[in-house]
Amino acid sequence: MKLEIVTAGKTRPSDRADALVVFVARPDRKQKATFESVPDDVRHAVRAAAPAEAGADGSVFTLPLEAPGAPAARLYAFGTGSGDELSPRKARTLLRSVVRTLDKNGERSALVDFPFATARMSAAEAREFLGRSVLQAAYEFPRFKSKADPRRLSRVAFASGRGPWAGAAERDVRRERAEAAALAKVATLVRDLGNTPSNHMGPRQLADAVRKEAKGRGVKATVLGKKEIERERMGGLLAVNRGSAEEPRFVVLEYAGGKKGERPVALVGKGVTFDSGGLSLKPADRMGDMKWDMMGAATACGVVLAAADLELPVNLVALAPLTENLPSGTAYKPGDVVTFRNGKTAEIDNTDAEGRVILADALDYAKEWKPAVILDYATLTGAALVALGLEASVVFTDQDDLAASLVSAGERTDERVWRLPIWDDYRENLRSDWADFKNTGGRYGGSINGALFLKEFVDPGQPWAHLDIAPTAYFEREHAGYSSGATAFGLALTVRWLKDRATR
Ligand code: BES
Ligand code: MN
Ligand code: ZN
Repeated sequence: MKLEIVTAGKTRPSDRADALVVFVARPDRKQKATFESVPDDVRHAVRAAAPAEAGADGSVFTLPLEAPGAPAARLYAFGTGSGDELSPRKARTLLRSVVRTLDKNGERSALVDFPFATARMSAAEAREFLGRSVLQAAYEFPRFKSKADPRRLSRVAFASGRGPWAGAAERDVRRERAEAAALAKVATLVRDLGNTPSNHMGPRQLADAVRKEAKGRGVKATVLGKKEIERERMGGLLAVNRGSAEEPRFVVLEYAGGKKGERPVALVGKGVTFDSGGLSLKPADRMGDMKWDMMGAATACGVVLAAADLELPVNLVALAPLTENLPSGTAYKPGDVVTFRNGKTAEIDNTDAEGRVILADALDYAKEWKPAVILDYATLTGAALVALGLEASVVFTDQDDLAASLVSAGERTDERVWRLPIWDDYRENLRSDWADFKNTGGRYGGSINGALFLKEFVDPGQPWAHLDIAPTAYFEREHAGYSSGATAFGLALTVRWLKDRATR
């Protein structure tokens, strides 16, 4: 799909679109539609043709545009319900329905008159967000369908001078469009990695896919195999891997876009390509969702790839431990004591708390790069979903400024995170009679217990944030303008955060 920003009325005949998209509001459920935001030149036609339900949220009506000078062959009026400032979530949902409706109707090109401001975002941020949202609106994963639906819509143009494009400088618009395209491309890759089922995306395939993407981007990729992981004494990763017939991998990506010698930002990602729970087996219901338990790894690697595409002036290292978590005669067992790379020990209380066990070694390994900041991404706990539902993920950090900057970056990209505490007061939950601590902490404060476990592997004073992305890394079904499956949550947030950091 091609994304453009064009000046309505100044389009060349060759720019004439199949569809002109406008939005109709209904300030109150009982009131009739208002046509305030519909462009002057088509308002009369839209009003005359509008059915009674026009403007209702989710409604859409179409009419042919016969005038020879019309910017498109057909007009589509989408109802938005009330309000003239949209939440980003609503904007993404709306754009998804626009793209899918046009596609279904066989339209090949569209001019979208988008008149809304987007809550919590500056105009520039909104432009990038809307571009990215359109480019991903029709995301699907047809790889394993023997007959995929044909895609017709190939060009979407936003009308310049409208909504967040009003008064924007041409140069800015061009740059933001390119950034949106770059982010959408990497997001598509990250989502594809997640949506690929575990029989096609084990540790080896995931490492190979990431290495291939790193090549040609000036990103150095190193993949540790089992031997090297043993040499690094990553006892946590090896313990979780024991139940699996597939060997583990550990991916390291290094991108040097910043000053020489400048300490990198380390991005650590949980890469469990399938999490059955191990001997502490999960219930059968929705166990298949655990093919997405590698989204932390995909996100961490995706950020580095995107940073290279955008030539961000930062140094980055991504660290991704990859394994399956399966039960077998060789699997690690409840009661086992595991020794990690840093020499600390943990009693395995529950083999399903495997994410923290592999991240422990990765967080310790990150020290080798003397990072300025460590961010980790992990679909770590179901408790995060219980706490926040599907609308935000959890951020944990001791540094108030780091928390604030991540929350802000999330607000401005619509990848929202909400802070929970990691006070040491919770530490007794992890107390073990047999080792330094246990890998679980009971039912209460499940996400906090996970974060506190990870904290054991980060030096005191080291700026570090843990993102428990279990709530938003994937959706079981279409949600909030995302198709079912992986979302690439965290990618846009982190790229925004890195840019903020570079210009600070
Ligand atoms: N990968 C899961 C967490 C998860 C659950 C992610 C649901 C996305 C959706 C993780 O490995 C896990 O199983 N966590 C356990 C921890 C518990 C045993 C302390 C959990 O959340 O139940
Ligand atoms: Mn688990
Ligand atoms: Zn898991």
